[in-house]
Amino acid sequence: MTATLIDGKAIAAELASENALRAARLRDAGTVPGLAVVIVGEDPASRIYVRHKALACEKAGLASWVHALPADTPQERLIGFLHALNADAAVHGILVQLPLPGALDARAVIGAIDPAKDVDGFHYRNVGALFVGEPALCACTPWGVMKMLEHEGIGVEGKHAVVVGRSTIVGKPMALLLLNAGATVTVCHSKTTDLPSLTRQADILVAAVGRARMITGDMVKPGAVVIDVGINRLQDGKLCGDVDQESVAKVAARLSPVPGGVGPMTIAVLVANTLRAAEKAAGIAAPRETRFA
Ligand code: GUN
Repeated sequence: MTATLIDGKAIAAELASENALRAARLRDAGTVPGLAVVIVGEDPASRIYVRHKALACEKAGLASWVHALPADTPQERLIGFLHALNADAAVHGILVQLPLPGALDARAVIGAIDPAKDVDGFHYRNVGALFVGEPALCACTPWGVMKMLEHEGIGVEGKHAVVVGRSTIVGKPMALLLLNAGATVTVCHSKTTDLPSLTRQADILVAAVGRARMITGDMVKPGAVVIDVGINRLQDGKLCGDVDQESVAKVAARLSPVPGGVGPMTIAVLVANTLRAAEKAAGIAAPRETRFA
């Protein structure tokens, strides 16, 4: 078998056009949707991510503000800054880029964001809503994976989904989304014994561990759908995922690769989440043709 690749870039482009339509509709109704991104410190990778997020907003017709604060910003000051953004009616989405430097307590900082503006879906309120299966703002990467599966006509109900990785940003919300969609879900992680015996049971395998090419062809069930969420930088500077594409492509039926898979979806979903928050604040429904909301 040779896996058909899932073109995340193309799906994200469809989502981006839909975002532009929704933004135009909001602007016509007198609301300019806006995202405030807060970055603390000088981490070069974080600065690049943040720039991409702001650019994606501008391309879709949203306002965006990047607030760069020094690495030694005290926690109370950062929280006070977020309270001001919470109170600013022009700001519909707030995102604090992670990781935070030094002694800053990420949970306390995220907890200070108004849940209605928490477009990362990291606030306890939104995490809790996901837990009980209520609609809420949801973490962008796992939500992007769900939208990708839906777009490709890959049903989830009744399937055995195996998620490798238990991070708060990807693994845990991914497992909950799959569970809420009717999959039987196994979550594996660094302490799992005999990982291959579990990954080989997966109809849908999501790799989100952060270890370059650790999922190899012998760990995959023939005909499985494999979604690579890893972003690892190799010594030669090249980007690679958690999946060994060469060996896995010989076994899987569908493969979302790195680069060009989930990555482009994440930012498009962030813009969609901001639009959702803005639509809710303005009391305007999403256009009927919206497929990604
Ligand atoms: N750092 C890595 N991924 C993310 C993300 O999805 N959101 C935020 N805020 N920070 C991140």
